This record gives sequence, structure tokens and C-alpha cells, in this order.
Amino acid sequence: MSNLKSKKISISNFCKLIPKIELHAHLNGSLNEDILKQLGCDETSISEYQKLTEILNKTSRNLDECFHLFPIAHNATKTKEKLYMATKSVIKDFKKDNTIYLELRTTPRSEEDMSKEEYIETVVKCINDCKSKYKILVKLILSINRRQDDNNAEESLKIIIKMKEKYPDIIKGIDLSGDPKVGTFNENLFEKARIAGLKTSIHCAEVKNNEEVKKILDFGPDRLGHAVCLHPAYEGSQENWDLYLQKKIPIECCLTSNVICGTVERYEEHHIQELINLRLPFSICTDDKGVFRTNSSKEYEHVMKHFKISPTDLYQFNYNSVEQSFASDEEKKRLIHVLNKVLYLFLGDIFSMVQIKDYCDEPVDEQLYRDLNLAPMWREFY
Ligand code: IMP
Ligand code: ZN
Repeated sequence: MSNLKSKKISISNFCKLIPKIELHAHLNGSLNEDILKQLGCDETSISEYQKLTEILNKTSRNLDECFHLFPIAHNATKTKEKLYMATKSVIKDFKKDNTIYLELRTTPRSEEDMSKEEYIETVVKCINDCKSKYKILVKLILSINRRQDDNNAEESLKIIIKMKEKYPDIIKGIDLSGDPKVGTFNENLFEKARIAGLKTSIHCAEVKNNEEVKKILDFGPDRLGHAVCLHPAYEGSQENWDLYLQKKIPIECCLTSNVICGTVERYEEHHIQELINLRLPFSICTDDKGVFRTNSSKEYEHVMKHFKISPTDLYQFNYNSVEQSFASDEEKKRLIHVLNKVLYLFLGDIFSMVQIKDYCDEPVDEQLYRDLNLAPMWREFY
């Protein structure tokens, strides 16, 4: 530990080192280049999958371009074997990035070789297999796509509820996602999910749609995804904002996703600023780390850098994320325990060392990782 204490650490390394909590990650949007190759994707489709990150300077980006990319991953995960490989790779990536708790979400699909039920079984099996191997706590949220018609969505819900009863420790919630310009929020469907004991996380206000936002807020999900156009300064209505302030629903913020898709112009203009200023609940998330070539550390770093957040405040956001998670009370206690241990046993000095003015983009310091051996804590955790 001695050389860790004497080292000056950059914000970037600080964000890599601390244990992180991820609450909003789509499986098929989170695939890295290597796994896409292993799944049989050629170079052209891999660069297509990641092309949004190469056109960052384009002035008129839009969400439509983003939704054309997911079929590349969907084509690569059509069999149980490939879906299993993809899930394992995503869990491994998050683990490598020092994520200690991951809520992965995915849309059950039926394919020639697999039913929706088998899709869920495959992902659950992989999560269970990875549990002891990678020492990361993973929960599953199952998504309904906005393009699904009522019958299809009802069919998905029935299967999701059945699978939740079979795997109550893994399957925790349900999500509404997909192209925000298509379809609508069906409160009856999500009410049934809630009655069945599923937590709800709804993609909300990715584009201006005050009528739908009102419906979602009236329903009162456990968490909201994005919520870009909710605050009146970001095209939301005052009525909805007032309603939001009464409910204070935690918001999953995905900065890079919003900037790359063009729903937010620049990092420093992200609505997370309002949430920070008003001490409203939020978490820092990746959304689609493969498509947007990001990871949790980079997202934490963007928040620190663009909003002048101190290490202690960032760490506090992490505690808040645990509170907002769909983990059980016992699991939350254990996660907090891990955060506390890292804070007091390993990082005590780092808090006094990291300062915004010291920001520099140093390469990763491998020795620093070796010094910060989290293994003993994980032995206690499981
Ligand atoms: P999957 O559910 O594992 O197949 O992950 C990819 C899917 O997540 C996409 O097809 C979309 O339905 C959904 N998704 C990913 N990113 C976003 C987003 O930013 N907004 C809404 N839906 C999204
Ligand atoms: Zn999302």
C-alpha cells in the first residue's frame, strides 16, 4: 500500500480504481470488438456497430442512427451458445472495470433456435455461472421493446413473470426501451408487472413527449432511464417537473449515450447538472458501452470533470446508486460494506490527493491496480 499512498492519482485512475455500481446497461449494446469477432461479425459490421463514436463532430446526430445498429448485435446472438458467450463477455468487461454490482437488461427474443423463455434461461444461466468466477453481483432486468404490439408485449410479460418466479434472486425488474419515437407507455401492462413483484425502470423523455412523460410519472416507476426532456430548461413542461419533484424518482443518467445520440449537445450541458444542484436522486450509467465505446469509469470521469465533482461527492453518488438498485436489503448492506472498506482501508489518502486542478489523462498505471488488491474483500462478500 505504501507506494499507493505516496502516489498522486489522476481523476481518470481514481474512477478506474473505485468500486462502481451500474444500473443501466443493455446487453446487446454492450458488446466489445473482440466478442463481436468471436461471434462471427466481420470488420464492416463491427465498425458499423461502433460508427457513432467516429462521427462525434457531426452537427446533426440523431437517435435514429443509433437504433439501426442494434440489429448487428442481434444477428450475432441468435443462438443460445452465442447469447451465452455475449453475456459472459459483458459481465467480464464490467468486472474488469471494477464494477461490483451490475444490473444488466435485455429484451427476450424468440429466434429459430430459441424461444423467449430459452433466451431468458440462457442469460440467467450465464449470470449464475459467472457469479463465483468473476465475483460480481449481477441482476437481470427484462425489457419490453416499444415496437412490440400489445399481444406480443403481453406474451413477453407472461414469460417474464414466470421466469421471475423461477429465478427471484436474479430477475428483479422490467424495462420499457427501444426507439422513443415509436409506440407508447402502456400503464396497464406495467401495473401487471408491478403487481407480480417486478421493479420497474422506464426509459422516459429521451425525446420531447410531455404527454407520455405525464403518464409515466403518474404511474410512478421505481426508476427512470435518461429523462432528458423532463426539466423545463430541456423542453419538459413545468407541470411534469412539479410532479417529478413530488415523486423524486431516481434517474439513470447516461451521459455519453445522450451526447453521441445528440439528445444532449455537450457533456457540460447534460441535465445531470440540475439533479446534482437540487440533490435529486440519480445514478451514473453506460447504456450501451459497446456502441458508444465507453465504460463505467469513463462515465464517472465525465461527471467529475464536467461538473467539478469532488472524489468524496462522487463516492457519495455511488452509495446513492446502491440505495436505488434492485438488490435485496441484505445485498445492499454487503455492497455498502465493500464501498466502505475500499474507502477506509485503501483509498483514504487518495481523497486528499485527487483535485480537479490536477486532472491529467495519464495512461493506466498497472502497478496501481496490483497494489489495490480487492480480492480479500470479495472473499468476505461471498
Ligand atoms: P438488448 O435488449 O439486449 O437486445 O439490447 C439492445 C436494445 O436495447 C435495443 O434494441 C433497444 O431496444 C434498447 N436500447 C439500447 N439503447 C437504448 C436507448 O438509448 N434508448 C432506448 N432503448 C435502447
Ligand atoms: Zn437505455
